[in-house]
Amino acid sequence: MYMHIPSRHAESKEERPLEHIPSPQGSHFQVKEKKPVTMAYTYDKLISHVLREEPVGSRNKVTVVGVGMVGMACAMSILMKELADEVALVDVMEEKLKGEALDLQHGGLFLRTPKIVASKDYSVTANSKVVVVTAGARQQEGESRLNLVQRNVNIFKFIIPNIVKYSPDCIILVVSNPVDILTYVAWKLSGFPRHRVIGSGTNLDSARFRFLMSEKLHVHPSSCHGWIIGEHGDSSVPVWSGVNVAGVSLQKLNPEMGTDVDQEDWRYVHRKVVEGAYEVIRLKGYTSWAIGLSVGDLVESILKNLRKVHPVSTLVNGMYGVKDEVFLSVPCVLGSSGLTDVVKMSLKPEEEKQLVKSAETLWGVQKELSM
Ligand SMILES: NC(=O)c1ccc[n+]([C@@H]2O[C@H](COP(=O)([O-])OP(=O)(O)OC[C@H]3O[C@@H](n4cnc5c(N)ncnc54)[C@H](O)[C@@H]3O)[C@@H](O)[C@H]2O)c1
Repeated sequence: MYMHIPSRHAESKEERPLEHIPSPQGSHFQVKEKKPVTMAYTYDKLISHVLREEPVGSRNKVTVVGVGMVGMACAMSILMKELADEVALVDVMEEKLKGEALDLQHGGLFLRTPKIVASKDYSVTANSKVVVVTAGARQQEGESRLNLVQRNVNIFKFIIPNIVKYSPDCIILVVSNPVDILTYVAWKLSGFPRHRVIGSGTNLDSARFRFLMSEKLHVHPSSCHGWIIGEHGDSSVPVWSGVNVAGVSLQKLNPEMGTDVDQEDWRYVHRKVVEGAYEVIRLKGYTSWAIGLSVGDLVESILKNLRKVHPVSTLVNGMYGVKDEVFLSVPCVLGSSGLTDVVKMSLKPEEEKQLVKSAETLWGVQKELSM
């Protein structure tokens, strides 16, 4: 929480009551003088200083842009995993933003993140290590996908330069949809090197796959290995040859796995992955928890320099026969410098073909965008 501590130099021994009002920058927990009371006196009686500390900047600051369902699930996941010493929230809806920040601050007792700030002014995001972008317009009835993309590009034209201005060395993690295209847009608008602009990509699709696999095999998802790569969503590609438990290839046990003639119909598992988001949206109106948890996992790998491999969206031209300048998910190493390495998967010709097809579709949309 961004708590004000009264100055020991207070000329008068008076309390200045805390009031949750926006500062000039709009952040919370700034102080407005109301009426004289006696907190400084009590404070001085209670506290004896050993060292008068200079203000210490945050070392592991994370910003979440967009405090909708996804943004708040991401923020909560980052808080519960105790990854950051400061979390900043940004949105254009000021009342909602204040409400969300205050609600989290009220839970400060149960958290290990000492500073939570919020403002529509991007100065509040200064010196972030990671900025998670979840802001975005939702598709309106009858609105084409291309039109939605263009609306979100227009939103990104405001967001990304502001992120860059205040955190020029940060890693941008794009979550807003269509995530692969918007990661490309964020990369272009930021001018950042490609290793510092990452899309959450098929990290969630792969998690859904491993959950469904775990249900089928009665083994925890962390022991069910399988990679969904390519475009996040409808045209994602399951890599059947890599599906394994304890290194035992399931395709070796069932050579028909992933084909039309598979008696067990494993392709149904992938269909369920693709339909997963639509099903959750139909049932509860949006998806939030799984994407929030998966973003927490990605942020952890970055902030703790874990060098874990995740299926996330990165610039793939030159890989697997992709010629266009597009972002798609492949297994990538994430650490404190961002996305440093890509694991070269041995793909079957039809899997490569699917990637190239997705790339062409994405490029078809991207080249029409006005940036
Ligand atoms: N990548 C994934 O796997 C994945 C999964 C789920 C959802 N999503 C996407 O995440 C995005 C957010 O979804 P949601 O359910 O939270 O939507 P939402 O409508 O609940 O929230 C979006 C938020 O963005 C804010 N916003 C709009 N313009 C802004 C701007 N210029 N600056 C700052 N904030 C702004 C809105 O005020 C709102 O609070 C959508 O694009 C959704 O499709 C991605």
